Amino acid sequence: MTSTPKIAEKLTDHDGPRHVAIIMDGNGRWAQMRNRPRLFGHQAGARRVREIVEACPDCGVDYLTIFAFSTENWKRTQNEVAGLMSLFRRYIRREMEAFRAENVQVRFIGDRPRLDKKLRDLMDEAEAFTADCTGTNLTIALNYGGRDEVARATQRLARDVADGRLDVEAIDEETLPRYLDTYVLPDPDLVIRTSGEARVSNFLLWQSAYAEYEFIDTLWPDFSEEIFADLVKAYGNRDRRYGGAKG
Ligand code: IPE
Ligand code: IPE
Ligand code: MG
Repeated sequence: MTSTPKIAEKLTDHDGPRHVAIIMDGNGRWAQMRNRPRLFGHQAGARRVREIVEACPDCGVDYLTIFAFSTENWKRTQNEVAGLMSLFRRYIRREMEAFRAENVQVRFIGDRPRLDKKLRDLMDEAEAFTADCTGTNLTIALNYGGRDEVARATQRLARDVADGRLDVEAIDEETLPRYLDTYVLPDPDLVIRTSGEARVSNFLLWQSAYAEYEFIDTLWPDFSEEIFADLVKAYGNRDRRYGGAKG
């Protein structure tokens, strides 16, 4: 399904965001409101992802990046963390085929070594399996933290300097992002956070320097392609000045 009948009017011709990033928040509260365990909310949240990925072509969005698990989320109970890891494994195993069928190229960003081997293997497999896909670029941030990413990038950069591959003077705003996990992605134009929290929680810190933000009250399991399309449309009315003056 590449065309979404619910989005009546195609948005591809508008001045829209090429890269949308989403902080998918509110699964726990969604479950709590139903007197269900938090993992029930995470399962419902995972089910929302495919619809949003499929809405991207009609919305003119080439890159979608979603925050699935932060470097701080290990602080949760062992039960919740284990449940999430098992959900990620099942999710990737189940969705891989569908993503390829939809021509979606899947990538992961974040610190992989801390994830268990079975999950890491599935992540590698999904990336290889969809590597030739030329449609939407889906990036899943898993064990991702912006500060951690910059620290890891700095280690690699320092190693290149120590080994004589990079001059200290050559380090600038163009060089540094080449060491980030997102080196193949353009910066996000629009960052959406659901659940009413107006904070960034360590997501794409370097990359979002000039992103537009939308903080909406909807809890992630209630997010829909209609809301997504409305936010994409609303972005067209924004005036991005990047520090310049209004002309
Ligand atoms: C987002 O939902 C999913 C993850 C962070 C893994 P939460 O689990 O943070 O839901 P709330 O914020 O507690 O409602
Ligand atoms: C951010 O949500 C991380 C993800 C959505 C994966 P959190 O729920 O972890 O963020 P805080 O704790 O409210 O800042
Ligand atoms: Mg949360």
